[in-house]
Amino acid sequence: MALVTSTEMFKKAYAGGYAVGAFNVNNMEIVQGITEAAREEKAPLILQVSKGARAYANHTYLVKLVEAAVIECPDIPIVLHLDHGPDFETCKSCIDGGFTSVMIDGSSHSFEDNIALTRKVVEYAHAHGVVVEGELGTLAGVEDDVKVSAEDSSYTRPDEVEEFVTKTGVDSLAIAIGTSHGAYKFTPEQCTRNEKGILVPPPLRFDILEEISRRLPGFPIVLHGSSSVPQEFVKMINENGGKMPDAVGIPEEQLRKAAEMSVCKINIDSDLRLAMTGTIRQFFAEHPDKFDPREYLKPARANIKEMVRHKIVDVLGCNDKA
Ligand code: G3H
Ligand code: 13P
Ligand code: ZN
Repeated sequence: MALVTSTEMFKKAYAGGYAVGAFNVNNMEIVQGITEAAREEKAPLILQVSKGARAYANHTYLVKLVEAAVIECPDIPIVLHLDHGPDFETCKSCIDGGFTSVMIDGSSHSFEDNIALTRKVVEYAHAHGVVVEGELGTLAGVEDDVKVSAEDSSYTRPDEVEEFVTKTGVDSLAIAIGTSHGAYKFTPEQCTRNEKGILVPPPLRFDILEEISRRLPGFPIVLHGSSSVPQEFVKMINENGGKMPDAVGIPEEQLRKAAEMSVCKINIDSDLRLAMTGTIRQFFAEHPDKFDPREYLKPARANIKEMVRHKIVDVLGCNDKA
């Protein structure tokens, strides 16, 4: 199967009450870990590339790695998506360069400017058979070189979504309902502590999601910043020379609930980074004499695969949906 757009995937996900996982890729081991899990679980898949990933690994290398995954996984549909496209030129470069989906992130602009920019990308993308994700509302956290503080973040306003979708023609919409980018999603002051002393973040704003879904019936909604920051990997990092105090993520049961509603795409990146880094730190602590990258990247890739399998089966519910 060649690369596909997310149109059919989202229709099925909406009707089936599950979400498709969108995982960020930066190198071969990450591509392999993700796609092997999706292939074994027969899950549709979105592989996404950020501006930072293109700067790190080079557009051509990333496209070719994803094309290799498509050949290795002929039975599952795979989308190649630009994550957080910052401007028209970056989106155009990805549309011209083989991507089947792009996000134009106009969330830092005024409502009117966001509409104008998103509309321009949609016109170009649709003329080339590519779909577009827009964003309304501002997530807290760090993405690429942009850091948004909790005070500067803002929930999506439901009264703006119909106008935005109608005027831009976007195919899906990323919204802000309390998720946040990175591994430090919330300050300890924003959280409560459970009986085990673990920080529990404020719940997602399902009321906003429900109102948006009511206003946009059948329309696919996207959640960014949806890593859950598994404490087992935070512990593994901290026990092997790392220092990640108070890293905390979105509880998985809340993401599961969102996936059963109108959320058709859930973005997960930080959890894969934690799995990779924790595994490599532990490997070096246990094998200080080793220096062959294949020896430490192999278990890192295996743990990325198990993390993605867990997300597909237990959080997104998209196993056996390919
Ligand atoms: O939301 C951003 C993604 O996690 C990508 O992160 O910009 O560091 O590649 P990055
Ligand atoms: P996390 O940092 O929570 O993994 O979010 C990733 C994301 O939203 C990519 O666009
Ligand atoms: Zn994001």
